[in-house]
Order: sequence, then C-alpha cells, then structure tokens
Amino acid sequence: MTTYDAHFRVWRGDADGGELRDFSVAVHDGEVVLDIVHRLQATQTPDLAVRWNCKAGKCGSCSAEINGRPRLMCMTRMSVFGRDETITITPLRAFPVVRDLVTDVSFNYAKAREIPAFVPPPGVKPGEYRMAQEDVARSQEFRKCIECFLCQDTCHVVRDHEENKPAFAGPRFLMRIAELDMHPLDAAEETGLDRKRTAQEDHGLGYCNITKCCTEVCPEDIHITDNALIPLKERAVDRKYDPLVWLGNKIGRR
Ligand code: SF4
Ligand code: F3S
Ligand code: FES
Repeated sequence: MTTYDAHFRVWRGDADGGELRDFSVAVHDGEVVLDIVHRLQATQTPDLAVRWNCKAGKCGSCSAEINGRPRLMCMTRMSVFGRDETITITPLRAFPVVRDLVTDVSFNYAKAREIPAFVPPPGVKPGEYRMAQEDVARSQEFRKCIECFLCQDTCHVVRDHEENKPAFAGPRFLMRIAELDMHPLDAAEETGLDRKRTAQEDHGLGYCNITKCCTEVCPEDIHITDNALIPLKERAVDRKYDPLVWLGNKIGRR
C-alpha cells in the first residue's frame, strides 16, 4: 500500500462566516475524499461538521464542492487528483451554511412539498396498474434520484440568485413534475390540476435555459435536461398553443 501526504483546504465556519483552513493529511491507495475528511476528524479536527451516511453513493448526504465542483465526497476518488494538487472542500454554495461542510437544504424539501403527488387513476386499484415498458423505464430513470441536490446547487438560476428561489423549483423538482406529467396513469388533469401550466406558472420552468449544468453533475447520470426538462417544456408549449385549449380558454374567460 502506498501512502502520501496531501494538502487539503477545508472551509470551517458557520452562518456568521468562516474561512479556509489548511491541513496536511495522509492518503492511502483506493481512498475517497470522505475517507480523508474522516481521517481529519479522527486525527486533527474532531469537531469538523460533515453530513454523510452510506459511503456508497446512495444516500445523497455527503454533497459538497471539491475544487469548486459539486460532488459526492464518498464517490470522489483521491486518485483523480494529482498528489501535489491542493484539494479544496467547501460547503454547497446555493444553500445556507449550518456549520463547516453542512448546509441547510430545507429549500429542497419545501419545493418537494409544493408538487402535488401522483393522482391514482379512478376505478383502478394498486396492483392493477398496467403501463408500457417504455413508460416504466422513463419513470425509473428519474427515480434513480438520491436527492443529493447537487443539481439544485449547480443550476445558475439559484446558485448566485437567492431572489429566484421562491419562483424556481430547480431541476430536481421540475424533473419530478415531468415524471408525473408524462406518467400514463396520472389522473391529475381529471381533477383539474394542469401540471404543465403549474410547471410554468408556479415552479419556474421558464427560468431554465437548458444549460445542462445540472445533468453534468448528477451522480446517478440521470439525463435531467434531455429527458425531463426539455420534454416538459415541449409539452407546456404544445398545450399553450393547442387550438382546442386556446378556444377553451377564450370561452372560459367570457
Ligand atoms: Fe442528485 Fe441527480 Fe437527483 Fe439532482 S437529479 S438530486 S443531481 S441524483
Ligand atoms: Fe438549470 Fe439545468 Fe436548466 S442547470 S438552467 S435546470 S438545464
Ligand atoms: Fe451517502 Fe455519500 S455518504 S452518498
């Protein structure tokens, strides 16, 4: 086993402010950034705050920014960095800091609560649902989401624009709306809920200018932009310019 000392800079502080602190830490073959953070806690900074749970890329807890790029610490191998490289770890920038590497991601839970759940089709019991395999596959891609919120942190609409947060659900939750809107059994429209319209009017779909930065950082390799956001935009536009919908709106307004 080879071992070397790496130079780390780790942000330490709280909601009132903080700074980058320098550390020299031993690194062994095969380790990931989270191993190094744990070694720091064990040997130099027992009070370093970090959120993690599975160390397997599945719980979505250990999100942070490593050399400025949003990543999961448990899935970032030390071997991707040069041995002489300084590795800087900072908390997610789009969310308020609680302490050190831990941020308050409650913005995301609030956005999740704003999206109405799947509406079961009337007269069909769970267990009797039938849908085409391609519809199942579409949902399954979106349901790989581990809620790490790296996409939410990356999206430029909110990353440096706190003022956009109330009006923008972010890629993870626009993807949720897309999933439900494209679900062949979702009966939302029968209850008067127009998911395409609410995506535009209530969840800020129009703010997304398909830069695809969200897709680039997704650790589950979900094609958020191509498979969720662009199709949802197309469906919203189709609905807006559908002549029958236009006529219905005209009559409805009289
Ligand atoms: Fe994380 Fe990807 Fe889910 Fe976004 S879509 S929260 S990046 S797993
Ligand atoms: Fe943001 Fe992704 Fe759209 S990064 S602008 S939500 S494509
Ligand atoms: Fe669970 Fe990293 S600790 S995803």
